[in-house]
Amino acid sequence: MIDSSKIMLSKDVLKDKVIVITGGGTGLGKSMAQCFSSLGAKISIWGRRLEIIENTAKEIENTSGNRVLAVQCDIRNYNEVENALNKVIEEFGYTTSLVNNAAGNFVSPTERLSNRAFDIILDIVLKGSKNCILAFGNYWIKNKKTGNVLSITTTYASTGSGYVVPSAAAKAGVLAISKSLAVEWAKYNIRFNTISPGAFPTKGAWDRLFPQELSNKIDFVKKIPLGRVGEHHELANLASYLISDYSAFMNGEEIIIDGGEWLKGAGEFNFLDMIKPDEWDEIEKSVRKAKS
Ligand code: HXC
Ligand code: NAP
Repeated sequence: MIDSSKIMLSKDVLKDKVIVITGGGTGLGKSMAQCFSSLGAKISIWGRRLEIIENTAKEIENTSGNRVLAVQCDIRNYNEVENALNKVIEEFGYTTSLVNNAAGNFVSPTERLSNRAFDIILDIVLKGSKNCILAFGNYWIKNKKTGNVLSITTTYASTGSGYVVPSAAAKAGVLAISKSLAVEWAKYNIRFNTISPGAFPTKGAWDRLFPQELSNKIDFVKKIPLGRVGEHHELANLASYLISDYSAFMNGEEIIIDGGEWLKGAGEFNFLDMIKPDEWDEIEKSVRKAKS
C-alpha cells in the first residue's frame, strides 16, 4: 500500500468517477486503485485470481471507505469482458474510466519461445486491451457518455526491445490503438492517454524480468540516470491526474516516467559517464590539439 501522505490531488477530486482497473489486484494496478479510491472514486478491479482481487478490494475499501468491486475476468475473452462490464454497471449505474493495466510478460531470448508462449503475451496485452477498449467504447458511444481510457504501456513500446519481444509488440499495438482512437473517438468525447513506466518494483514484474540469477550479474539501477527505481505513488499520482478532469485537454499523449532511463540508452555519448573527472584533462588536451 502507498503512503497516503504522498497522494498529490485533493480528497474527493474523483468522487464522480467509476474506474475499472484491469489487473488491479496486484502491483501497480493495486497502487493506482488505492490512490483513486482515496480520492473518492468508486473502483472495480479485474483479474483472473478471485481471491487476490477480493482481498485487495477489502483492503482498499477498509482504508478509503469507498466501494471497491472485485470482478473475476480473463480479459482475453471478449464475452467475459462484456459480462464484467455489465456487473460494474449493475453495481454503480455507470462507468467513466478504464485503466488498461493487466499484462503478461517474461524475459526470454525470442528463439526459445514456443508459438504458444509468444501468443499468450499478445493475447493478454494486445487482445485483452483491445477487448476492453471495444466493450467500454461501445458502451459509452451507445449511451452518449463521456469516456476516458488510460493504458499502461512501457518505454520499449516505442523503441522495441530484445528479450521481451512479444511484450514489445503487444505494447506497441496498444500505443497505436490509443493514439488512433484519441483522434477517431474524440467526436464521442472519449479520450485516450498512455503512461510508459520504467522500472517500478513489483513482484509480478521482478520475478519474471529481473530474477535473482540475472540481477546477480547486472545492476539494472545503473541504467537509470536518477540512480533509483520509481516509487508507486509517483506513478499513481500521474495516473490520477490523467484520470481526473484536470487533464481534460490531454488526448493521445504518451507520458514516460522512467528517471531518464530510455534517453540514457538513446543518447550517442551518454556512455561517457564511465570517464572519471581527472581523465577528462588528458582527453581535453587531445581534443584541443585537433585545431592545429
Ligand atoms: C519461455 C515460457 C516461460 C519462460 C512461460 N512460458 N514462461 N517460455 N520462458 N520463462 C511458456 C510456457 O511454456 C507456455 O508455452 C506458455 O508460455 C504459456 O505459459 P503458461 O504458464 O501455460 O501460461 P499462463 O498460466 O496463462 O501464464 C501466463 C504467463 C504468466 C504470462 C506465462 O507469467 C502470467 O500469468 N503473468 C501475469 C503477470 C505478469 O506477467 N506480470 C508481469 C508484467 S510486467 P508452451 O508452448 O510450453 O505451452 C511488465 C513490465 C514491462 O509487463 C517492463 C518492465 C521494465
Ligand atoms: P503485476 O503485478 O504482475 O500485474 C499484472 C496484473 O495483470 C496481475 O494482477 C494479473 O492478475 C493481471 N492479469 C494478467 N493476465 C490477465 C488476464 N488475462 N485477464 C485479467 N487480468 C490479467 O505487474 P505490474 O508490474 O504491476 O504491471 C502492471 C502494468 O505495468 C503492466 O501493464 C506492465 O506491463 C506495466 N509496466 C510495469 C513496469 C514495472 O516496472 N513494474 C514497467 C513498465 C510497465 P491475474 O494473474 O490474477 O489475472
